[in-house]
Amino acid sequence: MVEAVVRGAALVKTFRRDAEVVHALRGVDIEVAAGEIVGIQGASGSGKSTLLAVLCGWEEPDSGEVTHPGGAAAELPWSELALVPQTLGLLEDLPVTENVLLPARLIRQLDGYAERARSLQHRLGLTHLAARFPSQISLGERQRTAFARALLLRPRLLLADEPTAHQDAGFADVVLDMLHEHADGGGACVLVSHHAATLARADRVLSMRDGVLTGPGAAG
Ligand SMILES: Nc1ncnc2c1ncn2[C@@H]1O[C@H](COP(=O)(O)OP(=O)(O)O)[C@@H](O)[C@H]1O
Ligand SMILES: [Mg+2]
Repeated sequence: MVEAVVRGAALVKTFRRDAEVVHALRGVDIEVAAGEIVGIQGASGSGKSTLLAVLCGWEEPDSGEVTHPGGAAAELPWSELALVPQTLGLLEDLPVTENVLLPARLIRQLDGYAERARSLQHRLGLTHLAARFPSQISLGERQRTAFARALLLRPRLLLADEPTAHQDAGFADVVLDMLHEHADGGGACVLVSHHAATLARADRVLSMRDGVLTGPGAAG
């Protein structure tokens, strides 16, 4: 039995604003094993990003439980849990290179990861942009910066929210190749997408519909 790198059980999340109630997650079960790429497809508004937010500890579920082998999600270093958020979350006052190196800086291992950061930036076509600030590069380049940052410490679990959404076919392939190399090294990935070509490269694909997740192995 392969070790689970994250387990979500009976996850419920409801958003309320005034009279409006949105049932974003209605009892989601998910389990991801080391070395696998789990695709999640689903219409816009179906709850995909909310599920990632709950799995990474950004949002507290109303009920249900998230378990990471390394401890509470919100306290895990980027080596355990890394995210490519849909909104990217780059630090605007740091140049590209410093954004990519941020996870290494947080664990005080800048020197140890300088070469890897250079290599990730090279593969993702960011080398010539290294000194620019996020506001001075394109959306696709910003997304690749967030992707390089997430891969820097070879996280045990990578949560990637539509990581090819702003990429042309060539860079989408590079991103997916890098995800596969990560998985070959034992890393796991949850890959949210609605591109058929992107999902075709997942090991299995779950479907989110109105806060309900179904598909092969959805319940672990
Ligand atoms: N912070 C929030 N407050 C209120 N509603 C939210 C919030 N975040 C998400 N929602 C709603 O929850 C539902 C699921 O959103 P989301 O998980 O972002 O969907 P997806 O990523 O599949 O497009 C949507 O109806 C969305 O409008
Ligand atoms: Mg989303």
